[in-house]
Amino acid sequence: MHLSCYTGAQTKLLETPLTIPARIAGLGKYLPERVVTNFDLEKMVETSDAWIRDRTGVRERHVAADDETASTMAVLAARQALAQAEVDPMELDLIIGATTSPDGMFPAIASLVQHGLGARRAAAFDINAACVGFLTAFATASQFILSGTYQRVLVVGSEVLSRIVDWSDRGTCVLFGDGAGAVVLEAAKRGEPFSFVFHSDGGGADKLFAHGPCSQPGEADPGCYFIQMDGPHIFKFAVQAMEQATREAVQAAGLTVDDIDLLIPHQANLRIIDATAKRLGLPPERCMTNVDRYGNTSSASIPLALREAWEQGRLHEGDRVVFVAFGGGLVWGALLLEWAPVGPVPAAAREAARVTGGGS
Ligand code: UT7
Repeated sequence: MHLSCYTGAQTKLLETPLTIPARIAGLGKYLPERVVTNFDLEKMVETSDAWIRDRTGVRERHVAADDETASTMAVLAARQALAQAEVDPMELDLIIGATTSPDGMFPAIASLVQHGLGARRAAAFDINAACVGFLTAFATASQFILSGTYQRVLVVGSEVLSRIVDWSDRGTCVLFGDGAGAVVLEAAKRGEPFSFVFHSDGGGADKLFAHGPCSQPGEADPGCYFIQMDGPHIFKFAVQAMEQATREAVQAAGLTVDDIDLLIPHQANLRIIDATAKRLGLPPERCMTNVDRYGNTSSASIPLALREAWEQGRLHEGDRVVFVAFGGGLVWGALLLEWAPVGPVPAAAREAARVTGGGS
């Protein structure tokens, strides 16, 4: 399909840029212990560390243990975010899960997370918008807070893509990884600048997809559940889509690209990120990357990168931060917010994170 198809609907710009009485109060991440390096992959498929690093920027990725699932990893990331936010699970009004690799067709991982955390008051549901899932879940959460319906919402992106990757296909297995990231979003007194845009072109569904057990009747070949992708097509789409969505989100907030202090793009491929940043005119120090250590973790990629940007001291009060993503659907979108400081990580949560590989 020609790239000009990916223009999506005309973004409706507000005359007065939106502010939202909400802030991120806590950030969490979880990465499974097992690390698979490019050298490990050299033993599995015909590839090389040099090719993978050159074409994708990925050096290694984490892979879940047999007893880990999207929901168990989400619980660990969520605990860290809740500890930082000093929010008790019982104070949560809503949990939104974002995943393309759920524990099952149903229930939603959000329900399993709700149970795992003991967040008995919270409503729970999942969103599947592939790699734009976390962004879509975050924007949805923000609207519940904006409307005054809920005060505290947990948004968690979690993936075990290793279970839907064909480990004999060098075109895809080098790209993906497992992990989880979470944020606690809570109502705030002050209205913070905020905007988001989302697009979809279902005409490109066959360019990036994974079938499921309901895709076709009869006994399916388990291989049909693997991620399938037209890599070069997605590459071109991604760069154009992320540039477009970023420009629209900043424009919707009454700002320009020059006002972006930190871009946090979906971590799919370093070349896609670099090309997008170049088209936007953003220098590397204003663009967050960690794809080298985790590969593409789909719904988990932006909350993981956000958490690490905070750990690296790259987020300051008042910074304009843009999240931008693209994925199977095809879908793409961006979200702009103004950074409000989060509290320090309590020592107990730091220790738990160290034990579970969740960082400091
Ligand atoms: O969340 C969204 C998920 N998807 C993406 O973001 C994917 C976007 N696309 C990409 O990242 C890139 O297209 C890839 C990394 C998947 C592939 O890179 P490319 O530069 O587009 O390579 P290509 O597919 O055009 O293949 C070039 C060559 C081919 O060999 P021939 O036909 O030129 O002999 C491939 O067979 O590279 C070969 N190749 C590999 N060689 C070594 C493909 N994968 C590998 C590999 N190791 N792992």
